[in-house]
Amino acid sequence: MWIKRNGALYGDDIDSSEITPRHVFENRRRVLQSMGALAATGLAGASGFAHATLTSPDAKGQKLSATTNPKFVALDKPTSLKDITTYNNFYEFGTDKSDPAQHASTLRPRPWKVSVEGAIKNPKVYDIDEMLKIAPLEERVYRLRCVEGWSMVIPWIGVSLSELIKRAEPTGNAKYVQFISLADSSQMPGLSTPILDWPYSEGLRMDEAMNPLTLLTVGLYGEVLPNQNGAPVRIIVPWKYGFKSAKSLVKIRFVEKQPPTSWNTYAPSEYGFYSNVNPSVDHPRWSQATERRIGEDGFFAPKRKTLMFNGYGDQVASLYQGMDLKKNF
Ligand code: MTE
Repeated sequence: MWIKRNGALYGDDIDSSEITPRHVFENRRRVLQSMGALAATGLAGASGFAHATLTSPDAKGQKLSATTNPKFVALDKPTSLKDITTYNNFYEFGTDKSDPAQHASTLRPRPWKVSVEGAIKNPKVYDIDEMLKIAPLEERVYRLRCVEGWSMVIPWIGVSLSELIKRAEPTGNAKYVQFISLADSSQMPGLSTPILDWPYSEGLRMDEAMNPLTLLTVGLYGEVLPNQNGAPVRIIVPWKYGFKSAKSLVKIRFVEKQPPTSWNTYAPSEYGFYSNVNPSVDHPRWSQATERRIGEDGFFAPKRKTLMFNGYGDQVASLYQGMDLKKNF
């Protein structure tokens, strides 16, 4: 039998990978593999994730073993590893998009400690390798939308931040979580330019931090995080603009009052505390209605419509019920 799809004819004897856009097929395969459905066909394991343990002192390029979590796989085409690792914002290494890839080799992601502290019953200084083991690592394919108007799709590896929070046992005074990045001028040449009030700092309300989407992130594309993407551990909050996703964390602090955050302190009228992706609230310099997907920037590539909460409304809209999101931008 012949079927007509998007104006083209296909026979039913061809592989499903040819009638479905390749990336959709590949992301579905990720999901199916994770459910064990392909185990019997011998295709399981074809995603290329090796099962190595971390041994090298700096861990650079080490493979990470992770299971795809089918609940969290965007079917958009993942951005290429090259674009994800050469088009970055990491001001501790310079303000140009190419600076982090060029200069972040001075960052030393091992040994690395993260202090989990504040209004919790179990404060603890984690060694990064211990942190990698708090729960089985998951691969999740998330959209990342930057406030500057571009977006990417990234196969991250990590665990829900809620896993760490449960172990910390927050007290009744823990209303917010603050994320603090490393600020070490011997490793980060950009610190000599006082653009932001270093260390880079971000924050979430407690219920946002507990949402299963919020990812304590340690890798991407099957490997530990490259330095320029925030090695060895960062936060990823996919329904918020990218600057909420602080890199190279050294402190996770539970606090009672809304914590100061770097971009909000720099320009409070431009960068709100919430910073949920919202196509109807423009930044003073950038429309937020549409976005340019990195890798699709050919001359005729149309811009994409930006989705409310970056497309994660089903999971997060309830967090903001009754709130004026124009005021709380
Ligand atoms: N974290 C730190 N410590 N320093 C930064 O400059 N930039 C933010 C965020 N986290 C930044 C940071 C911004 S503006 C964005 S868009 C994302 O990281 C970019 O993440 P990526 O380079 O992995 O795509």
